[in-house]
Amino acid sequence: MGDAWYREKVETLYTPEQIQARIRELGAQITRDYRNRPLVLLCVLKGSFMFAADLARAIDLPLRVEFLGVQSYGDDTTSSGVVQITLDLARPVDAEDVLIVEDIVDTGLTLDYLMHQIQARNAATVKICALLHKPARTKKQVSIDYLGFTIDDVFVVGYGLDWAQKYRNVPEIGVVTSPTGG
Ligand code: PRP
Repeated sequence: MGDAWYREKVETLYTPEQIQARIRELGAQITRDYRNRPLVLLCVLKGSFMFAADLARAIDLPLRVEFLGVQSYGDDTTSSGVVQITLDLARPVDAEDVLIVEDIVDTGLTLDYLMHQIQARNAATVKICALLHKPARTKKQVSIDYLGFTIDDVFVVGYGLDWAQKYRNVPEIGVVTSPTGG
């Protein structure tokens, strides 16, 4: 998986099979919890595009998919919590049940900002589904309603997560073991 550079510097953390198995469980749980109610799946770009695509197929509800582009100001590895919306919702979400889909919760600053943003748009309910959570880096506690995996404080890449904007397309989640260059 990945090119020679990737294989030299990245170790597998979760295989595509492990990721898909966990997503099937999350999808079944979400399907049960919302009991046939319509749901807005809110994919936070860019990192969540792959997770949201697979999660959507694992949920058996009348689903609407929306996209929100965000960019956090900060250096390459830490977010500052100041979030810029680069692509806004195409439709309003007032009075609707919204599930925010994130690839990773690191400091929690991005999700804290997004929760407030979506609540301010008068959604009926706002819940969070995150594939990965790195509790060691928490700055802002956010309550994750549906969580794929809890991970150590490591630099993860693949399955939507980038390394200097590359390798989002790798179908596994890997840990960068020698993070020089990209
Ligand atoms: C990642 C991820 C979250 C955020 C989490 O996005 O998708 O949105 O960081 O970090 P936090 O909990 O510390 O706020 P990133 O800024 O890397 O952008 P991307 O999704 O476009 O890769």
